[in-house]
Amino acid sequence: MRIRTVSALVIAIALATGGCSSAPRVAPSHAPAIVDPLSFSRPADVLVRHLALDLTADFQTRRLVGSAILTFDNSRGAKTLVLDTRDLEIRGVHSGDGAAALVWKLGDEKERLGRALEIDLPSKATSVRIDYATSPGAAAIQWFAPEQTSGGKYPFLFTQSQAILARTWVPCQDTPSVRMTYEATIRVPRGLLALMSAENPQRVSDDGVYHFRMPQPVPSYLLALAIGDLEFRAFDGRSGVYAERSMIERAAWELDNTPALIEAAERLYGPYRWGRYDILVLPPSFPWGGMENPRLTFATPTIIAGDRSLVSLVAHELAHSWSGNLVTNATWADVWLNEGFTTYFEMRIMEAVYGREYSEMLAALSLQDLREAVATAGADNPRTQLAIAPGATVAPGTTTDVAYDKGYFFLRHCEEIVGRARFDAFLHRYFETHAFESVTTAMFIGEFEHEFVRGDQALDAKLGVARWIYGPGAPDDVPVVHSKRLDAVDAEIARLASGAAPEALATTSWSTHEWVRFLRNLPPPVDAARLAGLDRAFHFTSSGNAEILAVWLRLAVAASYEPAMPAVDSFLTTVGRVKYIQPIYTELAKTPAGLEHARGIFEKARAGYHPVTVTIIQRALGAGVKTPQ
Ligand code: BES
Ligand code: ZN
Repeated sequence: MRIRTVSALVIAIALATGGCSSAPRVAPSHAPAIVDPLSFSRPADVLVRHLALDLTADFQTRRLVGSAILTFDNSRGAKTLVLDTRDLEIRGVHSGDGAAALVWKLGDEKERLGRALEIDLPSKATSVRIDYATSPGAAAIQWFAPEQTSGGKYPFLFTQSQAILARTWVPCQDTPSVRMTYEATIRVPRGLLALMSAENPQRVSDDGVYHFRMPQPVPSYLLALAIGDLEFRAFDGRSGVYAERSMIERAAWELDNTPALIEAAERLYGPYRWGRYDILVLPPSFPWGGMENPRLTFATPTIIAGDRSLVSLVAHELAHSWSGNLVTNATWADVWLNEGFTTYFEMRIMEAVYGREYSEMLAALSLQDLREAVATAGADNPRTQLAIAPGATVAPGTTTDVAYDKGYFFLRHCEEIVGRARFDAFLHRYFETHAFESVTTAMFIGEFEHEFVRGDQALDAKLGVARWIYGPGAPDDVPVVHSKRLDAVDAEIARLASGAAPEALATTSWSTHEWVRFLRNLPPPVDAARLAGLDRAFHFTSSGNAEILAVWLRLAVAASYEPAMPAVDSFLTTVGRVKYIQPIYTELAKTPAGLEHARGIFEKARAGYHPVTVTIIQRALGAGVKTPQ
């Protein structure tokens, strides 16, 4: 369940960026003929297969310094290897064995995309070594001074590479259509633990040096690194949780049903293919809810609600181990293949472990998200399409809610028409046959129609695959969702509307989701007097549950409910999760005084935000926010 405004988390798919896309190329047998407009690289010419990193984390200068050796296939004998970089300081390029210095140059800077690194390849070359350093402002990396951590003694760092930020810390073919295995040597200050999206240590090394191996090939957006004073707790033999000391007990309790989620996922769509599944609970500035880094999901601490009510986020990131990490969208224009499939899979895991009533509650919230996204964008807006029809000249991009929620409902719609058993068999085979491959919307449609439609025109019309995928808005045949638990909430909302006192409402059994539904659908007028009454009854302003608090504080801002304003300030300066804080900033920005206040808070808070959050909030606050340097 996500509460997002459409403008919040647009996955900007600038298909018309120009300059880095090119004429169709003939692909060699080893590479798919995919042109990714968000990458300078040319994997159809030279295909990177393996990455060997050797990096030192220098917390004084806030740089990762070292080298990347890229091993590649160049069966076509291309003369140039083109890589993506952004804000990297390239110090030299050699042949992989270090014997020969190679000629290289950096192309012009393009906004968001960075600069192409073009390396002249000697004939028969199979690897290159790039010596480089990241910049202190690298968009993927958040560096923490010791005083910014909960322990207060050691520094901390984490990366976030999706969608196209890997290039700010590793020179690579930064497109999801390319996969590589990797290994890394990471050198950190003694006493700290380093973790990657790879085989991971469970305790601190004596010398601050860590060696990682990732034997399964992954796209660059799944490269990840975290360094900190971290502890580990096992759930069972193949999964566990890492967190800072102050959080580890609570995290281990909250997430201890993870093994059951993994087993349910495996029963649905086949064995978990990545060895271990661990979760890293990050500091509150983590910009997303979760990130599906292979073997090690990165998660916001805001899921530690104290009542295990937000574990669907783990189901979601775990589901990506199949949809996304194993079978990957070829370009970000097809992101619904990652996120829509994952949301569908998430719901199925939740249904298997917690029952249909629970998953229907999540589905009902997802439907509300979809309806709101469509209402905000406009039902004709091409950004409410799941994908862009072949041959279309406009490149709309897709809002996140659409990729997740419309994607989910499309797959549920298919399931309901063809039957769950047949649909599951299809998905199981889809994950198996395309394991470690990239997929496109056209491929999916081809396979789905081959499996189910086969010229059956009535069925074809009923499914309406093209209408669902390439049409805007929420189709009329959106599956019907029944949530008894949310119906009960709606009934209490109706009582409130007809004058019942907040104290008289039947709320005792409510979980986070019911409270969120309640707050999202309060009857008008949602003014300061109404909020004061609710606050007296339910103490929202002092809630420790960030999911509830985020909705509440937005309402408080909209209604100028003054008693909550100190909580707004402290929430915005401690939490960096975009889904929570962007709507509050946007709400503040609606009045001149609020905007000024928001800018003031942002100036205070930004030092503690991840660069991704800084960029998004800056955009929400418009001009007038100082940019560094
Ligand atoms: N892969 C996404 C996070 C992401 C999306 C990062 C786009 C960068 C760009 C992740 O799997 C995700 O969907 N996270 C959700 C949580 C989930 C429960 C819907 C989030 O962060 O809100
Ligand atoms: Zn996801």
